[in-house]
Amino acid sequence: MREYRDIDASKMITMHCGGRLAHLYEAQSVDDVRALVSEHQNFYVLGSGTNTIFGDGTIELPVIVLGRDFDYLHEENGIITAGAATNTARLLNYCAENGLSGVEPLAGIPGSLGGAVSMNAGTGDWGIMENVDSLKFIDNEGLQQLEASEIDFGYRYCSLPKRAVVTEISFKLDRTRPETVLNLIDEKMKNRKLQPHGYSSGCIFKNPQGDSAGRLIDAAGLKGTSIGGAFVSETHANFIINDGTASADEIRKLIRAVKNQVREHFGIELREEVKIIV
Ligand code: EPU
Repeated sequence: MREYRDIDASKMITMHCGGRLAHLYEAQSVDDVRALVSEHQNFYVLGSGTNTIFGDGTIELPVIVLGRDFDYLHEENGIITAGAATNTARLLNYCAENGLSGVEPLAGIPGSLGGAVSMNAGTGDWGIMENVDSLKFIDNEGLQQLEASEIDFGYRYCSLPKRAVVTEISFKLDRTRPETVLNLIDEKMKNRKLQPHGYSSGCIFKNPQGDSAGRLIDAAGLKGTSIGGAFVSETHANFIINDGTASADEIRKLIRAVKNQVREHFGIELREEVKIIV
């Protein structure tokens, strides 16, 4: 186990904002995770930081990351098993090279597989949990395994037990030709080209049922609205971009302003997809 103190929070997340992490723990093994879960009543598990915004002050909540030993992937009879710190790109590359189909909609969605299953990451109509066979996690009771059929999940939602740290995920995929998988990935990547670059957390809000948060924010005329160094992307309105100087506070104010405007224009309450940790 590695323990770090007083870490620059902005270096840990793709939004590139925030203050200091008082306690950062890097687990090197399942035993480390077990020890951390039993030692700490509350903690935050950070994947690759693509969906997290840390506040500007000192974050006292212990933050747990999974180390290199959780970055692995192997296959047996079409079932891929991967460590929770493995990134989505590695899974997709393996699928493309070996002709395994199912998770192509992940193309261009960055992040760790542990983070992806915890929020059922995906597109509007597909989430990664649809292709999960089973997963292992550690909670108060120790190491557990659940079949996907035993887990309730939906749009950007996965009902894992509280204080569960996902350590390993198995995927069920269909055998096909590598070219077929590559073509599907290329198609998804074309849509992704329409998404903005720069420091961001991907989509800030979940889509309300039957609509798109991006479309609503755009229709409310909010593209380009800025507070300090944070602005609503001109390319896709559900992205807030940090120009490199934004504080977490400015980003949070902009999130609130967008929610207020969308509520005023359409009577719809947007819900954050990003996790804000203060
Ligand atoms: N739209 C606008 N203006 C905008 C953005 C979008 O009018 O500024 C319209 C589009 O023209 C389209 C509709 O809104 O008609 C939906 O937009 P898009 O196809 O970009 O999809 P989305 O619903 O905004 C979802 C996921 C994305 C994922 C895309 C691609 C959510 C919150 N977002 O976006 O995921 O990349 O589908 O399939 O579910 C993320 O989770 O971080 C993320 C970016």
